[in-house]
Amino acid sequence: MSAAVAAARPGGLGAFNVIVLEQAEAIVAGAENANRPVVLQISQNTAVYHRGMKPLAVACLQIAADSGADVVVHLDHATSAELIHEAVDLGIRSVMFDASVLAHQDNIDATAVIANWCHDRGAEVEAELGEVGGKDGVHAPGVRTDPDEAAAYVAATGVDALAVAVGSSHAMLTRDAVLDDELIARLAAAVSVPLVLHGSSGVADSGLVSAVQHGMQKINIATHLNKVMAGAVRSALADENVVDPRKYLGPGRSRVEAEVERLLRLLSR
Ligand code: G3H
Ligand code: ZN
Repeated sequence: MSAAVAAARPGGLGAFNVIVLEQAEAIVAGAENANRPVVLQISQNTAVYHRGMKPLAVACLQIAADSGADVVVHLDHATSAELIHEAVDLGIRSVMFDASVLAHQDNIDATAVIANWCHDRGAEVEAELGEVGGKDGVHAPGVRTDPDEAAAYVAATGVDALAVAVGSSHAMLTRDAVLDDELIARLAAAVSVPLVLHGSSGVADSGLVSAVQHGMQKINIATHLNKVMAGAVRSALADENVVDPRKYLGPGRSRVEAEVERLLRLLSR
């Protein structure tokens, strides 16, 4: 993933979550249209939903391989070491190990073990320090990551990217979160690896651009694209004669493709 982060510079790298196949197709098409690198993210929750990560992971890896765009397939928010092992064995080379709920030293110890295992197999690891809220429906936009602690954490664990808490919260349906740009700049100066913004759906366009300009390098967006897709699907299903999934998922896919292209162009500023 660090190569894609570098390819996205001076802008930020867009990273979008995939739950159903149409989203992967739309995200890659949007990246091709924008001529920008992109990350397809499959979360542990999504792997559980599909009763195993292999079918969606294999499809995403194939879509990535067939694309003219620079597409990274990433395992997102994994708390299970077994799932990380399975992902890397399937050919995924970018994973997030989320030990953010653990006590600080336990987070460091567990993450260092995962990072070593992944590095031995040519895979990169993102970790999280300072829990970004909202994963369990409880929003906590007030949590902050300390720059000195972040630098020490990266040195102790050897991770390749770091998710930080700077004012965002997961799964927001409104885009009114206010990010601490001054803290982003201090984190970027202190930390030697790319910074990752989680919960970016709650941040307005102007906030995303400003976060990138202050040093945020990977921007994770899930809920916002789900909302875009759901809106298009809902409109299509207003006609009760529409029953073929292609007739309602197709419009959803088209709207997501256009929004991914728009977001990737926005993040390149
Ligand atoms: O890891 C995924 C992201 O942090 C997505 O968060 O659904 O709030 O955009 P979001
Ligand atoms: Zn996240």
